[in-house]
Amino acid sequence: MKSGKTAKLIGTGAYLPQRVLSNADLEKMVETSDEWIMSRTGMKERRIAAENEQASDMGYFAAKEALEQAGVLAEELDLIVVATTTPDYIFPSTSCLLQRRLKASSAAAVDIQAACSGFIYGISLAKAYVEAGLYRKVLLVATEKLSSITNYEDRNTCILFGDGAAACLISDSGQGLTIRGAILGADGGQADLLKLPAGGSKRPASHETVSQKLHTIHMEGKEVFKHAVRRMEGATKECLEACGLNEEEISWLIPHQANIRIIEALAKRFAVPLERVFLTIHKYGNTSCSSVGIALHELLMEKRVRQGENIVLTAFGGGFTWGATVLTHD
Ligand SMILES: CC(C)(COP(=O)(O)OP(=O)(O)OC[C@H]1O[C@@H](n2cnc3c(N)ncnc32)[C@H](O)[C@@H]1OP(=O)(O)O)[C@@H](O)C(=O)NCCC(=O)NCCS
Repeated sequence: MKSGKTAKLIGTGAYLPQRVLSNADLEKMVETSDEWIMSRTGMKERRIAAENEQASDMGYFAAKEALEQAGVLAEELDLIVVATTTPDYIFPSTSCLLQRRLKASSAAAVDIQAACSGFIYGISLAKAYVEAGLYRKVLLVATEKLSSITNYEDRNTCILFGDGAAACLISDSGQGLTIRGAILGADGGQADLLKLPAGGSKRPASHETVSQKLHTIHMEGKEVFKHAVRRMEGATKECLEACGLNEEEISWLIPHQANIRIIEALAKRFAVPLERVFLTIHKYGNTSCSSVGIALHELLMEKRVRQGENIVLTAFGGGFTWGATVLTHD
């Protein structure tokens, strides 16, 4: 069902809440130190959404910016895809809430759940729809309020996560970044290493689940770390190959911002100099699926990407899920 169309990313946006949670703040909440957090993760600060600021609100502001940049009206949208692990509700979907608020009355709306890999899963989905000729204008939003599922008494996890949203407009026309390829992967065999144990149909909310803090992120950090490097490396290699590119042709690398040591290990495997690896981890921490989208937006806003340069995005997260995509500047 190839239509001869090429999917392009023609606008981006991001939204970060105002409140800053610094390492110094965390020192007052759990037994930790700025030195430990910086050296083990590369994080200094993260943003925390206000109580009345939900995933759909943050997604809305990121989406408005992406639409404006792309010069596309909400009424022109054919599809809204929202990647999130922290939807406002189990249902209705966050994409439907966004469709209402944007007044995108012609758009279909769907949420996808691929944890930290959601932005790349969304790019792949949007590219497939656009290139099949089924939809012409797709809004992809990644939005996370991880503070709502973080246990601020667990030093192993609470230092890592932050809130924020990213958006992009994917279209069959316009100028921007050509989506050269996207590779996805998953391994459900590792599902228990990173999860939110309760709140779904398996363990609905009860006094017991709440008192045991089972509605917060549980993670085997060391194991996740090892898989993250290996899977992002594999996906990046596979994607480059599918696009007919070699490793030296990576102009910019944007890995999921989960840990500076993971990012450095990955950059080393592709011999990408660190000044070509785009980082937001020090200021936003791990924002799950929003992380690579926020970083892409900030890199583009700095106007350092030149014509013909290749940006590689890669991510890894719960599920496990992973993916990579190559975007080439027109
Ligand atoms: C979570 C993570 C930062 C922990 O770093 P680590 O080097 O693996 O640290 P460990 O878990 O081995 O813990 C080492 C020690 O530091 C302690 N520690 C853990 N968190 C701490 C904190 N915030 N402050 C101080 N000490 C801490 C541990 O208790 C442990 O102490 P012990 O040796 O006395 O048992 C790291 O494993 C990681 O980034 N994992 C991957 C996360 C990821 O990729 N997520 C992607 C999907 S979202």
